[in-house]
Amino acid sequence: MNNATLAELHARIAAAINGAQRQREPGSWSPVERYLSRSRYEAERIALRRCPLAVGAAARLKSPGDWWATTVHGVPVLLCRGEEGELRAFINACRHRGAALAAEGACGTGRERFVCPYHSWTYGADGRCLGRPHESDFAHAPREQSALVPLPCVERFGLVWVVASVQSGFDWDGYFGPLGREVEALGFTAEATVAHERGLEQASNWKLLFDANLETYHFAYAHRGTIAALFHDNVVVHDRFGDHQRLVLPKRAFSALAGPPATLEAYAKAINTIYFFFPATLLLWEGDHLNGFAVTPTGVDACRVDGWLVVPQQHRSSRSPAYWQRNLDEFWTVLGEDYALAASMQAGLASGANQALCFGANEFACAAFHASVERMLTLECQAALQGEAGLPQATRA
Ligand code: FES
Ligand SMILES: [Fe+2]
Repeated sequence: MNNATLAELHARIAAAINGAQRQREPGSWSPVERYLSRSRYEAERIALRRCPLAVGAAARLKSPGDWWATTVHGVPVLLCRGEEGELRAFINACRHRGAALAAEGACGTGRERFVCPYHSWTYGADGRCLGRPHESDFAHAPREQSALVPLPCVERFGLVWVVASVQSGFDWDGYFGPLGREVEALGFTAEATVAHERGLEQASNWKLLFDANLETYHFAYAHRGTIAALFHDNVVVHDRFGDHQRLVLPKRAFSALAGPPATLEAYAKAINTIYFFFPATLLLWEGDHLNGFAVTPTGVDACRVDGWLVVPQQHRSSRSPAYWQRNLDEFWTVLGEDYALAASMQAGLASGANQALCFGANEFACAAFHASVERMLTLECQAALQGEAGLPQATRA
């Protein structure tokens, strides 16, 4: 965030607070089918595999030989750091008959090779197939064509991001765009680290969690016992960056400022900022840290949430562990209030009370999120049609 952005935002926030320029868009409806349909859930899950997601702390994989097996949108993924320091992601499936090379959730250090537990095909950390028993039996499957299948991955803001589908030359800078550069300018460069991680299973459709976090209308009521008093009621300063969104949430402390503060830290005392990276990663900037989470659907009415508290290098040693713990606890207490409401909404969706959920003129960021999801599904349909047209004639056993 540079000074020009700060000055522009400052004027817009002031106008939003005093009512001169409240951001509003036409109200809309979100059909309950979006949160109930099994076929839609399946379609979303496939489409989400084409999109980047923050999957974990880069610190999990900081040294050559570090590795971690995880699952992203149902795809088994093996992450490993090569000798030369490059982080790589592969589909965690042997090229022989598809067994996992490492069990889901397993991790370790000092690993140069991965040996399949089934028939011992062996792979390097760069994915190459290095050897296999009875090589002469596989003349039809050359070793050089039997490397692990790579997936796009990158490190940003102290987190590892993965795309869970095969795509060559994925444009990461294009994906993060100006919003990514803004988060980096706040100090979340390659040196930023995750101070805390946590994960939980949530009993609601994944999209309800973003509906819950992309508006401030609920603060005064749902968060009346926690953060409500800190923020201006029902005020947001919002910008779209393609399918990504930035929501500035002004605190009451903002009103005490005479003009744009000289430092980012002073500014952060007066606002919080949500950086939403479509489709499913949300980062909340709170000045000296980010609190963020990513959501993966695990069922039409269930999802998994992984969260991180990210600290920039300059604040790594300037705060105590208790300070970070307090911030983390506060963040997750408030999210817990949102998540409990999302679970109650999921339970009521099929009741017939609502054909569609209602978004007011103040909840337009939720509508923008759903418009992006619809676009994602359309693009997936188009890609599937093109893929079917171009499918090679397979040689079958
Ligand atoms: S499935 Fe991996 S070696 Fe056979
Ligand atoms: Fe909330």
